[in-house]
Amino acid sequence: MTTPKQTILVTGASRGIGRAIALRFARDGHDVVAVARTRAELDVLGADIRAAGGTCRPIVLDVADGAAVAAALENLDVDVLVNNAGVGVLKPFVELTVEEWQRMLDVNVNALFHVTRAVLPGMFRRKVGHVCTIGSIGGRSVFAGGTCYGGTKAFVTAWAENLMLEVRDHGVKVSVIMPGAVATEFNGNQVSDKDAWKLMPEDVADAVAQVVLTPPHVLIHRLEVRTLTVAAKGHAK
Ligand SMILES: NC(=O)c1ccc[n+]([C@@H]2O[C@H](COP(=O)([O-])OP(=O)(O)OC[C@H]3O[C@@H](n4cnc5c(N)ncnc54)[C@H](OP(=O)(O)O)[C@@H]3O)[C@@H](O)[C@H]2O)c1
Repeated sequence: MTTPKQTILVTGASRGIGRAIALRFARDGHDVVAVARTRAELDVLGADIRAAGGTCRPIVLDVADGAAVAAALENLDVDVLVNNAGVGVLKPFVELTVEEWQRMLDVNVNALFHVTRAVLPGMFRRKVGHVCTIGSIGGRSVFAGGTCYGGTKAFVTAWAENLMLEVRDHGVKVSVIMPGAVATEFNGNQVSDKDAWKLMPEDVADAVAQVVLTPPHVLIHRLEVRTLTVAAKGHAK
């Protein structure tokens, strides 16, 4: 470990990119607080981290539930928050149900308020902290099927930049990491050989670690992470 031990809160840590981020920071010697709704997957993550000699505190939590988030994160001093939990239902606008639309807004947008609002006062008090949020290239590069999802990720970019200007003088960094397509179960995908061209979750975890590991006076505010290989038709690259 090259930096002092820190407390890293990762939302959506049960699988995919969030799991890779949790494993990465645990491997670097940090205390990981892993948030998701699925207890069984968090238990597997915790066991994997402990087996490798790391520490992990799982919290079963729906990040869209503001009251539950406030209660669960009260009294938790977080050095690095990774807002990773996200939902994507990529299909034509007229086929989206109101439930799908609402769920994307609740998890991709409203949860940013609940979780970030819960940890920022502690960061202000300690005059240090880092809020990293996983956006998407799909938030600025439009594609058919992305009306709601792409809109929520465009929000992420705008929100993060506005927040960055507000909190930098409190010693708090704000970054947004924007991956292209990543081989996960996102949008109902079953990971298989057809995903070989995509980024791996570990690639995104490495990018987040690089953003977090900058010297105190350096802020990487926005980072796009793309695959070098040719994307399948219809996907943001
Ligand atoms: N995969 C891609 O191609 C891609 C590209 C660019 C950006 N991203 C972004 O990367 C992030 C992670 O995506 P992924 O590909 O890893 O997706 P994923 O494999 O579907 O994982 C999503 C994670 O979010 C959690 N989650 C969903 N709803 C939640 C809720 N209400 N409360 C708490 N946790 C919740 C899930 O855990 P539970 O179900 O256990 O709660 C799971 O751990 C998302 O923000 C996504 O938009 C993905």
